[in-house]
Amino acid sequence: MSAGRCGLSVTIVAVVLLVSACSRQEVNIDGIVNTCTTCHGPDGKSSGAVPSLYGLSEEEIVRAFEDFAMGERESTIMDRIVGAYSDEEIRGVAKYFGDLSKQGK
Ligand code: HEC
Repeated sequence: MSAGRCGLSVTIVAVVLLVSACSRQEVNIDGIVNTCTTCHGPDGKSSGAVPSLYGLSEEEIVRAFEDFAMGERESTIMDRIVGAYSDEEIRGVAKYFGDLSKQGK
């Protein structure tokens, strides 16, 4: 048994799934950021009741996600959103907003 390009090939179905997973390996951070900004405002600068993401560091955003996921932080909506993303995606999005704030954009 040899490992294929993207892990073990078990059945045709698994291979197809693996191949499509591989081609999506590039995490689409921009797409996720757009989801966040619908509530958190353009560039994470909120003008409404939703807190701004702008001004938070990468670490603060990652920590907030962990707290929401663990139920350690009160949430109306974020507890349902956090489950939708992988660690890698959360890191990427957190870095995006963290960098934005650092640059003072
Ligand atoms: C449907 C609207 C909505 C979307 C989409 C959304 N959020 Fe939120 N977010 C909220 C609300 C509302 C809160 C306040 C906590 C709560 O009630 O859940 C919040 C809180 C947060 C906080 C804590 C802010 C602070 O001041 O500590 C972070 C970090 C956060 N969201 C990040 C994100 C990221 C990153 C995304 C995109 C993956 C995202 N949110 C998508 C509505 C949203």
